[in-house]
Amino acid sequence: MPLFADRVRRIDTENAFKIGPYIKSIEDAGNRVIKCNLGEPDFAVPEHIRAEVKRQLDADNTHYNDPQGIPALRTALAEHLKRSRGVEVTPERVVCFPGAKPPIGLCQQTYTNRGDEIIYPSPGFPIYESFIDYVGARPVPLHLDEEKGFSFTGEELEPLISERTRLIYVNFPSNPTGGVATREQLEGIARVIREKAPADARVYSDEVYEDILFDGVEHNSIASLPGMAQRTIIVSGVSKSYCWTGGRVGWAAFPTVEEAQVFKNLNINYFSCLPAYNQEGAREAIESPLSKPILGEMSAAFQKRRDVVVNGLNRIEGITCQLPRGAFYVFPNIGGVCERIGAISACERLLDEQRRMTSPATLFQMFLLFRYQVATMDRKSFGRIGTEGKHFLRLSIATGLDDLEEALRRIETAADDTAGFEEFVAAGQCLY
Ligand SMILES: Cc1ncc(COP(=O)(O)O)c(C=O)c1O
Repeated sequence: MPLFADRVRRIDTENAFKIGPYIKSIEDAGNRVIKCNLGEPDFAVPEHIRAEVKRQLDADNTHYNDPQGIPALRTALAEHLKRSRGVEVTPERVVCFPGAKPPIGLCQQTYTNRGDEIIYPSPGFPIYESFIDYVGARPVPLHLDEEKGFSFTGEELEPLISERTRLIYVNFPSNPTGGVATREQLEGIARVIREKAPADARVYSDEVYEDILFDGVEHNSIASLPGMAQRTIIVSGVSKSYCWTGGRVGWAAFPTVEEAQVFKNLNINYFSCLPAYNQEGAREAIESPLSKPILGEMSAAFQKRRDVVVNGLNRIEGITCQLPRGAFYVFPNIGGVCERIGAISACERLLDEQRRMTSPATLFQMFLLFRYQVATMDRKSFGRIGTEGKHFLRLSIATGLDDLEEALRRIETAADDTAGFEEFVAAGQCLY
C-alpha cells in the first residue's frame, strides 16, 4: 500500500516559498542576494497596530475565542466594507481566517463537486490553480494578455462560463501582474456573470491588494456592482495593506449567513480560532484614522519604485514591461532575452523529464539567481496550464530603491551573458 493518498500528488505549491532554501544556500556561501521575489511589503507594521497587539498580550487576551473571528473585528470589517465599497454586510456574514490564503482552498472544497469548473486568471496567484486538481474540480484558466494590461473583459470571460461553473476568481489589483480593471471593465465582467453564470456560482473577489494603487486609481470591487453582492465573496487581509504577513489575519464576507456558518465550522475543524491579540490588532488597523495616511505613503513609495524599475527594464533589449497600476510587482516579458541568450533552444535540448519541470523563463530565472544573485519568480509559478511559449518573470518591488537599481544592472548584464548562460545550463544544476 502506498504511504500517501492519491490526492497528495495532485496539489501544487507556491514557489515563492520553494526558492527560499536556494537563496539561503547562496547567502550561506557568502553572497548577497537581491530579493525581488518577495510577496511582502518591506515596511514595518505601523506603530499603532503593534502597540495594540502588545496591549492585548499584556491584558492576557491569549485564549480560545470565537472561531468565526472576534465580534469586534467582524463588526469593524462590516462597517469598513460598507464605507469602502458601499456593500451592506452584517458581521454574521464575515468569517476570519489565518490569512487571505486559506479561504481559497476552503471555497473550492465547499462549492465544488468532482468535475465542476473553476475559472481563474492566469497568470494568477498560484494557489487558485494549485488546489483545483486536489479537490477534483476542472481548471478553466482565463489567460490574461500583456497588451490589455493583464486585465480582462466580459467578452473574454463569456466563453469560459458553463453550467458547471461554480467559482470565478477575480483578483484586482493582481498578483503577479499589478493589473487593475477599470469600473467599466468590471461592469462588463459582472454583466456576463449575471447573464451566463449559474445563479449559485460564486465570484471569489481576492482584494488583498486593495490599498496599494498608483496614479490616483481607486479600488473598485465587483461586489459593489448591481446584482453582484449576492454572488460575491469579498476576501482581504492584513498581510499586504499593513505589512503584516506574519500576523495571519484575513477575512471573507459571504453572500449569506448560511455560507458563513459552513466556513465557521471548517475553522472549528481545522484550527479552532485565530490569536485574539492579532485580531484586535487587525481591528485597530481597520478602525484607526492613523492607518489611511500610512497606506498613502506606502503606495507613493511603491509607485516611485515602479517607475524606476519599469523604465529600467524597458531599456534592456529583449524586455518589455507594462506599467502596473497596483500591488507591488512588475511582470516583464523577457521573450527577447530568452531568444537571444539561447534559453528557448536550451530548453528544447533538455531531456523530456527536465523539460517538463522547467521553461525558458525558469532557466533564465535560475541563471539570474545563481550567477547574478537576483531572486525573481518565473511565469510558471503563476499557473502552469497553457503557458508554453510565454516568457515572463515577476519582480517584486518590495525592496529598497538602491537594491532595485543594482538588480536592474545585474539583469542587463545577465541578459547579454550568452556564454555564462550556456555554461550554467551545461552544468545541469538547479534548472528548475
Ligand atoms: C492574490 C493573493 N491572494 C492571497 C494571498 C495570501 O495572503 P495571506 O498572506 O494573507 O494569506 C496573496 C499573498 O501573496 C496574494 O498575492
